Amino acid sequence: MRLICICIAWLILITQIIMVTCKTKNHVPAVIVFGDSSVDSGNNNRIATLLKSNFKPYGRDFEGGRPTGRFCNGRTPPDFIAEAFGVKRNIPAYLDPAYTIDDFVTGVCFASAGTGYDNATSDVLNVIPLWKEIEFFKEYQEKLRVHVGKKKANEIISEALYLISLGTNDFLENYYIFPTRQLHFTVSQYQDFLVDIAEDFVRKLHSLGARKLSITGLVPIGCLPLERATNIFGDHACNEKYNRVALQFNAKLENMISKLNKELPQLKALSANAYEIVNDIITRPSFYGFEEVEKACCSTGTFEMSYLCSEKNPLTCKDASKYVFWDAFHPTEKTNLIAANYLIPKLFAAFR
Ligand SMILES: *[C@@H]1O[C@H](CO)[C@@H](O)[C@H](O)[C@H]1NC(C)=O
Repeated sequence: MRLICICIAWLILITQIIMVTCKTKNHVPAVIVFGDSSVDSGNNNRIATLLKSNFKPYGRDFEGGRPTGRFCNGRTPPDFIAEAFGVKRNIPAYLDPAYTIDDFVTGVCFASAGTGYDNATSDVLNVIPLWKEIEFFKEYQEKLRVHVGKKKANEIISEALYLISLGTNDFLENYYIFPTRQLHFTVSQYQDFLVDIAEDFVRKLHSLGARKLSITGLVPIGCLPLERATNIFGDHACNEKYNRVALQFNAKLENMISKLNKELPQLKALSANAYEIVNDIITRPSFYGFEEVEKACCSTGTFEMSYLCSEKNPLTCKDASKYVFWDAFHPTEKTNLIAANYLIPKLFAAFR
């Protein structure tokens, strides 16, 4: 009898050890973010650009009604994803002096609103180019090694979840606005050019120790309020040409991702395609409880963003949760939450 008890006790202990080991193996200790305004949590506050959002009404639904530099009334998808993984509630911006390396142990954001894969895109509004986001990431790794020790730091770097979200500005702030790229590339060639840069970026992250990547392509960029507003001859409907460009780009990005998954050891990169979900929201907004999809909440809802989004403008909506878009170029917190909730089960399946 006593022997059986001891055996059972041992069995329970061993099972627990196995469970704990498995859990640590699948654990995501940090969420690390690269990209543009879709995920910037305040880096642009600290650089010399006009593209900022660290003033009201931005952030009015954020904790404490605080503008942080997020291009939203509230939180962005990486915040929701980090919370779902039990890592932290909000991802701090790397350049924000309110945070230290201690805060960044569990997550950090290198994203910069207005940036793109193409260096020429980040030049337009003088924001942080993607290569510079990598430089910041290297600097972060050094600080992390000093702070938690080399072994722990390397573990965090390889087990962290990396969220990458950009590309919209390459088309809408660069290619279709300035003649430079159009003179050299057809839109299909430009997509290939961007995907080559994205591939190079993933290779660099992998060589720096990143293993779990989630790469978000483009949403229906032709349906952003600004694009509707400027679609004068199309009766302010979505710009379908831009939507087709987004879909083609996503397909090419996905091909590149599956190629690298086969090629790079231990890489697990997920194509976190949010096109379908955002398109569904735009197509049947009332199903999700939205009342307005064409115009944004801020000001006239047609072209304003950044400094043109003024708290004093009497037209700014009262309840952003009725709006799909917050400003002419960015979704509301509610849209971000729906998109994040769509992606989270896929991320759990791949990385938890
Ligand atoms: C972008 O600029 C950086 C720094 O000057 C450079 O190293 C990189 O090759 C450039 N990328 C492309 C695609 O030209």
